[in-house]
Amino acid sequence: MSTTEFDEFSTDYSSRLDQCVKVSGQDADYFAAVKAEVLLAEMAHYGIDPTTATVLDFGCGTGSNSAHIHDQVQCLIGTDVSGESLPPAKANAPTASFVHTGDVQLPLKEKSVDVVLISCVLHHIPLDIRTAAMKEVNRVISDRGFVLVVEHNPWNPATRWIVNRCEFDDDAILLTTKTASTLLRSADFASPRQRYILFIPGTGKAITRFNNALHWLPMGAQYSMSAKPNR
Ligand SMILES: C[S@@+](CC[C@H](N)C(=O)[O-])C[C@H]1O[C@@H](n2cnc3c(N)ncnc32)[C@H](O)[C@@H]1O
Repeated sequence: MSTTEFDEFSTDYSSRLDQCVKVSGQDADYFAAVKAEVLLAEMAHYGIDPTTATVLDFGCGTGSNSAHIHDQVQCLIGTDVSGESLPPAKANAPTASFVHTGDVQLPLKEKSVDVVLISCVLHHIPLDIRTAAMKEVNRVISDRGFVLVVEHNPWNPATRWIVNRCEFDDDAILLTTKTASTLLRSADFASPRQRYILFIPGTGKAITRFNNALHWLPMGAQYSMSAKPNR
């Protein structure tokens, strides 16, 4: 699959994803909402007030995550190699701006972004350009900022089952946490902070508390990994 293949899914990405994840009992929007929660929690961890922050949703697709973030941060920019995904993204997150990019270069100034969210994108980036793409991400992060990667956990059998049946993921080369950590370090990021997420899909305080408490256990459906650039 080429990296612009997501153009093909731009009109019905969410409903197709709903089908992929329905076995979990949740829909695509549930998972997008969790990403937004993780993003805000990581911003709190790094002491960044969202209302003062510029956030880049790298590989934003049709804006499922942006929809939950755009009204919580000072400025949201979405970028994607799939140009056709961007009009739906704008419809989902009207206050954000969206930019069509190539595989690696970002049309953004050095240190111009506080947080870069990269959710379920890295496994679609060909191995030979992953480090270059992450170095480019590093270049645009401000001195107070960080990158937040969210990826499928290849050790979780349910995740593998879903990925193997999801048509978006024909080209996916999943990253273990070790691979993701090595990638970040190779792109000159500092030692990452890693948390497993999504043990039990669901809402409510008890489930959220349960999921948060197990962040160390390598069986979550996905994981988050954040890191600051080495400067
Ligand atoms: C599975 S979708 C994820 C969309 C969204 N981030 C989410 O979490 O739902 C992967 C997205 O990554 C984009 N993508 C793939 N390679 C990319 C690259 N090199 N730079 C930016 N976006 C890329 C695809 O076009 C697609 O929209």
